[in-house]
Amino acid sequence: MTVLITGGAGYIGSHTCVELIKAGYDIVLIDSFANSSPDVIERISMITGKTVTFYKGDLLDSAFLDKVFSRHSIEAVVHFAGLKAVGESVEKPTSYYYTNLVSTLHLLQVMGKYDVQRLVFSSSATVYGDGNKMPLKENARLQAANPYGRTKLMIEEMLDDHYRAHPNWRFVILRYFNPIGAHPSGLIGEEPAGRPNNLMPYVTQVAAGRLPELNVFGADYPTHDGTGVRDYIHVVDLARGHIQALKKTASTGFHTYNLGTGRGYSVLDVVRTFEKVNGQPVPYQMQSRRAGDTAVCYADAAKAKAELGWEAVKTLEDMCRDAWHWQVCNPNGYRKKQYVQSNG
Ligand code: UFG
Repeated sequence: MTVLITGGAGYIGSHTCVELIKAGYDIVLIDSFANSSPDVIERISMITGKTVTFYKGDLLDSAFLDKVFSRHSIEAVVHFAGLKAVGESVEKPTSYYYTNLVSTLHLLQVMGKYDVQRLVFSSSATVYGDGNKMPLKENARLQAANPYGRTKLMIEEMLDDHYRAHPNWRFVILRYFNPIGAHPSGLIGEEPAGRPNNLMPYVTQVAAGRLPELNVFGADYPTHDGTGVRDYIHVVDLARGHIQALKKTASTGFHTYNLGTGRGYSVLDVVRTFEKVNGQPVPYQMQSRRAGDTAVCYADAAKAKAELGWEAVKTLEDMCRDAWHWQVCNPNGYRKKQYVQSNG
């Protein structure tokens, strides 16, 4: 079965490509490399031992997309491509709405033209509104708090409307919690552009001495140690969830699943676990709360387990070890010459 992966060179996309290839799928990867490195393609090949078919191009260019569909017998699509930085989305909302919505519309149009009706969409737990009871079930109240989140919510709604009009299509929406870690080989991982916004890349850069200390945003939350609690999930577990989601698209339907572990860890839990498993100190200082953050956010992951037969198996220790291994092997990200061969 041939699967098109949009945004396949990104952090979650690249790990998903590896798992799909390992599971025997033929993949066609497309990426604009606007926020990813072309070196990822070679790394995916190094891990899987397979040549990767890929095209550099943008979903905003429907002629490009049409050309890819005309060249391959694509049977399903996993759609990752899009802009994803919360802060940037507040500053450039129209760019986020245009890029994320129009590219998805182009994708639907071309899928329709080539009679491809199976789509797995990369959504986010950010679509859940504040004030929901934890753990979050898929039927919790939806209300995104920023333009990025609203693009995810709007796309979910767009796909739902499309399904109502075309009930022979098959959609699986995956709402990711907080993916961290990297492939255990140390060959692929997260490479944030500039100063990291998210916790784990910041922690690894502090441990590596590239940043002086971690700013812990908020010590007065109503949690066990006062710092924010999130549902961190190993990116390889998350990637494997997409295989089960693809299988679900074998029959018609519109399904939505949380992909999380169902466990919450605080910022200090992450810091202490990282220090313990890697033997690296992570100096930090307490700061005031970051605007827009909630105290606690974790998934009820029961629906994915019951209906997809998927659950996360990797621990916070695995996530911290693999995130550090990636950092050590690639001190300057994907820039080839910097790669340090590992036995992982
Ligand atoms: N944090 C710090 N210091 C940092 C960065 C983060 O203390 O330098 C804290 C945050 O305050 C929060 C936790 O670490 O308590 C996790 O923060 P992240 O920025 O890593 O992740 P978020 O939960 O804020 O957001 C992530 C993704 C979003 C996505 C959301 C889904 O970045 O894109 O999860 O719930 F929408």
